[in-house]
Amino acid sequence: MSMLLIFILCAFIRAHEATPKQCFSNLFPFGVASAAFQTEGAWNVSGKGESIWDRYTHEHPELVFDHNNADVATDSYHKYEDDVKIAKQLGVTFYRFSISWPRILPTGLRNKINEDGLKYYHNVIDALLRENIVPVVTMYHWDLPQSLQDLGGWTNPTIAEYYVDYARVLFENYGHKVNTWLTFNEPLSFCHDGYGGYDAPGSRSSGFEDYLCGHNVLRAHGMTFRMFQREFSHLKASVGITLDLSWLEPATTSADDQEAAETARQFRFGWFSHPILSKEGDYPRVMRESIDRNSKRQGFFRSRLPSFTPEEVDMIKNSYHFLGLNHYTTYLVSKGSGKISTKPSFDDDMGVKISQNPSWPKTNSTWLRVVPWGFRKTLNWVKNSFNNPLLIITENGVPFEAGLQDVKRVNYIEAYLRSLHDAIYKDGCNVFGYTYWSLMDNYEWMRGYSERFGLFEVDYKSSNLTRSARLSAAFYSTVARTKCIPDNFNYYNYDVTK
Ligand SMILES: *[C@@H]1O[C@H](CO)[C@@H](O)[C@H](O)[C@H]1NC(C)=O
Ligand SMILES: *[C@@H]1O[C@H](CO)[C@@H](O)[C@H](O)[C@H]1NC(C)=O
Ligand SMILES: *[C@@H]1O[C@H](CO)[C@@H](O)[C@H](O)[C@H]1NC(C)=O
Repeated sequence: MSMLLIFILCAFIRAHEATPKQCFSNLFPFGVASAAFQTEGAWNVSGKGESIWDRYTHEHPELVFDHNNADVATDSYHKYEDDVKIAKQLGVTFYRFSISWPRILPTGLRNKINEDGLKYYHNVIDALLRENIVPVVTMYHWDLPQSLQDLGGWTNPTIAEYYVDYARVLFENYGHKVNTWLTFNEPLSFCHDGYGGYDAPGSRSSGFEDYLCGHNVLRAHGMTFRMFQREFSHLKASVGITLDLSWLEPATTSADDQEAAETARQFRFGWFSHPILSKEGDYPRVMRESIDRNSKRQGFFRSRLPSFTPEEVDMIKNSYHFLGLNHYTTYLVSKGSGKISTKPSFDDDMGVKISQNPSWPKTNSTWLRVVPWGFRKTLNWVKNSFNNPLLIITENGVPFEAGLQDVKRVNYIEAYLRSLHDAIYKDGCNVFGYTYWSLMDNYEWMRGYSERFGLFEVDYKSSNLTRSARLSAAFYSTVARTKCIPDNFNYYNYDVTK
């Protein structure tokens, strides 16, 4: 056959493939996610140590929206088999969950390994593997051992070594069964909101402790990755980190707002991605310069943003096999006032104004509005900023009020998946999987049980904490099994009990 004929044939086939149906590749994995503190409960049983979230929610119920704690949560410590069963029902390829550091090392240190804790995660992993569901493990999803917080937590430089010790225990015990690892979930959240704001441990020391936290998290991540390469390369596993990036769109087309939006992306995402993913490594230049300048103007002898040694820059640079990306919503960014207050803070250093468009659809969340196009822009920005890194969406999801006929959640997932599909198949973004947050309703940190992200509803009033499939579970299951976004999903008459 002549080349020309082949060309015409291909063009013909392509034209006829261009139906509205959007499919992902046959091997594209769909999964669901959860985290230890939000689901396990059993906070004080079988030798588990106290975490900063246990301590904080016990001491400050008034700061939690519904004044609840996660002592029981979805009781997944006892009901993990039910969780695996509903994940199986969905037909997902993988389940992303996190391991509780204080359940494995009650003191945070390697002086005592809790055998019951080790056993619990073996049970979870084995139950998943029996059902052919791939375990994807987050090593740290915010529940720091309280005993380490008593030593300064993430602001203490030595914590990086303690973290490596903990990570080694996980590789030693689960490395032969787990081949996808994430060192951290959303350092921006737990450093900025935890050490700079109102999340546990509630230091509220923005402009100082959040930067110290970020610095030590980056060191801990890099050191863990190098330790893995030195000691566990025979495992053939992959190690990444999950970062969160809400899209930051310029509020207007003005050059000032464009620049402000890029500054915001560098502060909120570049803070952790630039040291790991960029060619030159280290913090983004705009962050370094702004914080150095503000520190000086505020009379400090040295910058509030610590510096890496050249060896640390090299150690952290390229310390990943893949990137995990959490994406939920979009903000508008405009130029700041240019004033610097006497009281330092991250927001002051970033120096921009962040808002949302009130016309964007609201959800049952204080911050999450439905803006599907922001997903595609996010992925393209990551592609262009870091040479199209291999990445997996480790979280995307939405909270709505209780109820099984969650048409709004189906709409959110469908719209975000179409945006993702465009990013992959029209723009060439290197995304190799997608994770819905979350498998079932759970304890949403400072929002308590008030925000429900689940494909499965949890009945907190039943003695049983019964999990029931929502309409969105049926929808997502169709996507996970067919790899296609259904065109005519029957929203109203689907039997969600099947
Ligand atoms: C564990 O915590 C619960 C409250 O969630 C409490 O009732 C119980 O006494 C505690 N158990 C132990 C062994 O401390
Ligand atoms: C979410 O829903 C709960 C329960 O209906 C409600 O109490 C809460 O105010 C809602 N939160 C937001 C941010 O809409
Ligand atoms: C307990 O939960 C299971 C599944 O979640 C359900 O099948 C069963 O009917 C529930 N029992 C009660 C008493 O609620």
